[in-house]
Amino acid sequence: MSRSWWRLFLSLAAGVPLAYGAPALLAQEASASPPEASASSPEASAPGHPADVQASAIFEATLAAEASSKPAGLRPVERLGKLLFFDRRLSEPQGQACAVCHGPEVGWTGPDLFINLTGSVYEGAVRGRFGNRKPPSSAYATQAPVLHLEAPGQAGFVGGNFWDGRATGEELGNPAADQAQGPFLNPVEQNNPSEAVVVAKVCRGPYGDVFRAVYGARICADVPRAYDSIARAIAAYEGSSEVNAFSSKYDAWLAGRASLTAQERWGLRLFEGKARCDTCHTSRPGRRGEPPLFTDYTFENLGVPRNLFNPWYWELPFNPEGPFYVDLGLGAFLFTREEWAPFARANLGKVKVPTLRNVDKRPYPGFVKAYAHNGYFKSLESIVHFYNTRDVLPVCLSGTPGIPGVDCWPTPEVGLNLNTREVGDLRLTLQEEQALVAFLRTLSDGYYQRAAE
Ligand code: HEC
Ligand code: HEC
Repeated sequence: MSRSWWRLFLSLAAGVPLAYGAPALLAQEASASPPEASASSPEASAPGHPADVQASAIFEATLAAEASSKPAGLRPVERLGKLLFFDRRLSEPQGQACAVCHGPEVGWTGPDLFINLTGSVYEGAVRGRFGNRKPPSSAYATQAPVLHLEAPGQAGFVGGNFWDGRATGEELGNPAADQAQGPFLNPVEQNNPSEAVVVAKVCRGPYGDVFRAVYGARICADVPRAYDSIARAIAAYEGSSEVNAFSSKYDAWLAGRASLTAQERWGLRLFEGKARCDTCHTSRPGRRGEPPLFTDYTFENLGVPRNLFNPWYWELPFNPEGPFYVDLGLGAFLFTREEWAPFARANLGKVKVPTLRNVDKRPYPGFVKAYAHNGYFKSLESIVHFYNTRDVLPVCLSGTPGIPGVDCWPTPEVGLNLNTREVGDLRLTLQEEQALVAFLRTLSDGYYQRAAE
């Protein structure tokens, strides 16, 4: 039995409520999975994991198509980006591709059921090293503008990639391209020692010729330029019609090619009306008529509680604060930049408004996805209930009875800069919450084939 299944079995056998971060499970987890075991466990990244198998299969198929005289679809630079995205050789030790944390089958976010059910943060190429946040969707990220102040002198920010906007886009002109440079060298992600190592793997690997064909015969001699080009190719793939597919039932409905059920239409009306979701998750077409992206790329603190299952809390070498760590979001990043530091306090606890496209995309109906930057919520029903009742239910106190999310809500991870204007007390009935969820389910890509443009 693999380590993950063993842990799931232990948790279930103990009857622990997995849906919410209960302190009891923190203790349970710690005893069920001692750190030594996870550091040395060889099967943790064994090729047998479904997400790894899936990534490898897509990589091999793309490579084979490249070798055939007529590779279909995508432009050459996008196909190169696809190979890079699914290449499990590009980590140290090998085994971890971008897709291992951003699986297409789950809407380009975390594809591991057990991880989603608990800490929601993914292990890097080195066993036992976890990141501190849930992977957001890598689709619909390329449209983010370069991080900037919404209006001069005011503290509102727009754009960038990552939950805290720190892949600003200033370097390569596109946040997604800046972002793509990060994971290869990040010790809690793909963990390569240098840019040169990544470039060498690409140049000497099975698609080195494809790389040279796109960027020129001499590209491999210039490491900085080659490394930038790798990032740009990945961003090109992330911006392609295969990733930003706009092929959901909702898109089909917009195009007049499908109809929404009465419940879905009711959900959409609530989304744009009583529940005011669209004030942040924009459901209007872009300026040039682009389909809605369901984010305005701004930052907000919704007061999501801490996810106590997060292994980051006891990963002391990378997180010296241990269990006292608090994710301060955009504010913490702004402190690192002289020109933006004056706005940092007003942005503590704020994270990026994520797109809602593909929020319900899952490989099979019972598959659990995690929601919000720390994966605290395990279902669309629970996060919608939080929006509706955050300021209505009492705070959960230890020693008093009450189920989190049913009778009470735990305190926010960051109590500052909380949005109480639009969210917290929506006065929705249970049926209205259900209609909203039904509408969110129409946003999964793969519903229909769009006509070629
Ligand atoms: C170990 C898991 C892991 C790997 C491997 C990984 N990512 Fe991520 N990715 C994350 C996490 C976690 C975040 C959010 C980090 C944060 O906000 O601080 C993220 C954020 C992103 C974002 C930002 C999306 C947005 O809207 O802000 C993009 C795009 C992305 N990753 C693409 C990639 C690419 C491309 C690769 C491969 C070069 C990659 N990721 C490898 C976990 C991973
Ligand atoms: C004030 C802006 C704002 C409003 C209004 C808003 N959201 Fe959000 N939404 C956010 C932010 C910010 C996050 C990320 C919060 C976090 O991670 O802590 C988020 C996260 C989510 C997520 C999780 C997505 C993911 O990938 O993890 C869902 C689902 C969601 N919102 C649905 C809704 C619905 C439904 C409504 C209306 C009831 C709504 N939102 C209203 C800002 C908003």
